[in-house]
Amino acid sequence: YMIDKGNHRHFMEKEIYEQPEVIAHALSHYIDFAGNRIKALSGTIDFAKIPSLAISACGTAYLAGLVGKYWFERYARLPVEIDVASEFRYREIPLPSEAAALFISQSGETADTLASLRYCKELGLKIGAVVNTRESTIARESDAVFPILAGPEIGVASTKAFTCQLAVLASLAIGAGRARGTVSAEEEQVLVRYLAEMPRIMGQVLNAVQPKIELLSRELSKCRDVLYLGRGTSFPLAMEGALKLKEISYIHAEGYAAGELKHGPIALIDENMPVIVIAPHDRFYEKTVSNMQEVAARGGRIILITDEKGAAASKLETMATIVLPDVDEVIAPMIFSLPIQLLAYHTAVFMGTDVDQPRNLAKSVTVE
Ligand code: G6P
Repeated sequence: YMIDKGNHRHFMEKEIYEQPEVIAHALSHYIDFAGNRIKALSGTIDFAKIPSLAISACGTAYLAGLVGKYWFERYARLPVEIDVASEFRYREIPLPSEAAALFISQSGETADTLASLRYCKELGLKIGAVVNTRESTIARESDAVFPILAGPEIGVASTKAFTCQLAVLASLAIGAGRARGTVSAEEEQVLVRYLAEMPRIMGQVLNAVQPKIELLSRELSKCRDVLYLGRGTSFPLAMEGALKLKEISYIHAEGYAAGELKHGPIALIDENMPVIVIAPHDRFYEKTVSNMQEVAARGGRIILITDEKGAAASKLETMATIVLPDVDEVIAPMIFSLPIQLLAYHTAVFMGTDVDQPRNLAKSVTVE
C-alpha cells in the first residue's frame, strides 16, 4: 500500500473509496470462493465447543462488535456478552473459563481493550483478536489472530477498518454456525454467495449515492443536532453514523434503537433536528416505518436510508431518501455503512473541519 491521498482530498475519502478493494481482500482470507464456503477457522478457538462468547472493544470497533453480536447469536446460536472495554474490564462479569473472547481493534494497541484481553486471559478464556495491525500487542497476546486486512488507515475516523471488521465477523459467525450445526451447508453456500457479491455492490453504491449525499450534507451542515435511528443490525449502524458525524463535523448526534424513540428522544423532535432513519426492507422495516410516522407527525424532518423495496413501500414525505440496491440482510450493514460514512465526510467538508485529524481525537488511544 502506498500511503498517500491519491486523487482524494482527504485520507478519509480515499479510505471510503478503497472499501470494495479491501473488503474483497479481507473476504478472500476467510472464504473459499470456489467451494462457496467459509475456510476452516484457523487458531485454537473451537466455536463448536464454547458455551458463550465475550466481545470487547472501543469506539467504532465496539460498534462493529455489536453488529457481530447479532450475527453470532443468529447464525451460531452463541450467547454474546459485549461491552465497551473501559466497562468490560471492571464489571466483574461472570465468564466461564470454557468461553472464548474476541477483542476488536484496528490498531491492536488500545489500552482498555488490551486490559480487557488480559482480564479474560487471567480467567482462562481462549482469546481471539480481530485486528488490522498484526504486529500489535493485542495480536501478540492472543491465541488466535483474525486479520481484517484493511491496509493502513490514516483518517482518525474509522471507515474501511469498520467494514472489514464487519466482513470478518460475518465470516466468523457463519463459520461458527457451521461448526455448531446451526447453519447448514446449503445455508452457508447462500450466505457466502451474498458476501462474495459485496465488493461489486459497494463499488456500485459508492458511485451512485455521492451526488445526492453531497447535496444533503449542505443541509446537514446547518444543523445543531441529528438523531439516527435503526433496528436490528441497523441499530449499531445508527450509533456508528452518529459517532462518525460528531467526530468529524462536531455536530451533536445520537444513535438510538428505533423502538426507544418514544422513551426519550421523541421529546426533542422538531423541524430543526433531522432524523436519519436506517431502514433496509428487512423483517423490521414495518416497525421502523411506524417510528418514522411518529417523527413526521411531530414535524420532524426525515432522511431515509433504505433500499429499493423500502423506498417503494414508504409513503412518507421525507427531506431526502437515499436508495440503495436490495441486498440480503447479511451484507446490509456493510452496504449501509457507505452512505453513512459519506454523509459524515461531506458534512465535515462543508463545515471546513480538519477531517483527517479532528480536534481532541487520536487514532489510537494507548492511555486509559
Ligand atoms: C479511537 C479512534 C477510533 C477507534 C477507537 C478504537 O477512538 O479514534 O476510530 O474506533 O479508538 O481504536 P482501535 O484501534 O482499538 O480500533
